[in-house]
Amino acid sequence: METVEKLRTEDYKAIREFVYEKSGLFFSDAKLYFIENRVSKRLIAHKMTRYGDYLRYIKNPTNERELRHLFDAVTTNETSFYRNPPQVDAFADHILPKVVESIRARGQRTLKIWSAACSSGEEPYTLAMILLEKKDLLRGLMPRIYGCDISEEVLAKARQATYAPYTMRNLSDSFKKNYFEPNGKEFTVSRAARTLVTLSHFNLVDYKNYSKFRGMDIIFCRNVLIYFDTKVKRKIISGFHDNLNTNSYLLIGHSESLHNINRDFKLEHFSRALAYLKS
Ligand SMILES: C[S@@+](CC[C@H](N)C(=O)[O-])C[C@H]1O[C@@H](n2cnc3c(N)ncnc32)[C@H](O)[C@@H]1O
Repeated sequence: METVEKLRTEDYKAIREFVYEKSGLFFSDAKLYFIENRVSKRLIAHKMTRYGDYLRYIKNPTNERELRHLFDAVTTNETSFYRNPPQVDAFADHILPKVVESIRARGQRTLKIWSAACSSGEEPYTLAMILLEKKDLLRGLMPRIYGCDISEEVLAKARQATYAPYTMRNLSDSFKKNYFEPNGKEFTVSRAARTLVTLSHFNLVDYKNYSKFRGMDIIFCRNVLIYFDTKVKRKIISGFHDNLNTNSYLLIGHSESLHNINRDFKLEHFSRALAYLKS
């Protein structure tokens, strides 16, 4: 069988422009080999050898299904339970109680959390476990966590909710014991935690459909902003701002910042973590 050709700069630029237009993901010149490595697998799947043929194929609206595979191929989905423990602790011990106080003051009965770009589910299930731990604080409220991602492959894994021990490395023994059931060499998230989470496919650059996630009390959008350029970040963050209730919080990754992106949020410092308040 013929092998896939080397990715030439002009084809690389055309592919990255297409990926940017469809997902907001921006790849610098230095990422040519990364894209070649990931996208060559799609050419092999279609028995193609030339990137130009693949581009023509994917640009044809009748082959829209292939877009999902391209997103699966070019996204970086690294995640884990209880990722960035100081930030998750700040959520559990400070942010959640403050938000619940505002919710009760407004007479609201629901608590809505959006885990935007949730990858294979570790983030929304971690939040679900924390909500179960805080059942006294939440008494009388209906909590719900909305997890979304652009990659169908990781969403399928999130729906299975079955994980290898490595991704559970930050969890305490009591979380492992209380919220997982052994499943061969792996562990399945308990039904109680799973029922708090609704998973869906959503592309964060689909700005016109942000209304699907209206009325959020907390948004987690961690470790994905780094893949977008300033223009896309500004639109996404402004969409989050529109979708949040007053006195609610946005949490982003520890290496990410809203500096030069948005001035509507107020930065708040917790013991070892930061969060953005919509006042
Ligand atoms: C590194 S993971 C972060 C997962 C989790 N938030 C965390 O911090 O552990 C980044 C995720 O963003 C998703 N993603 C990338 N572009 C996206 C977009 N335009 N819309 C929705 N999700 C996107 C990827 O598929 C990937 O699963």
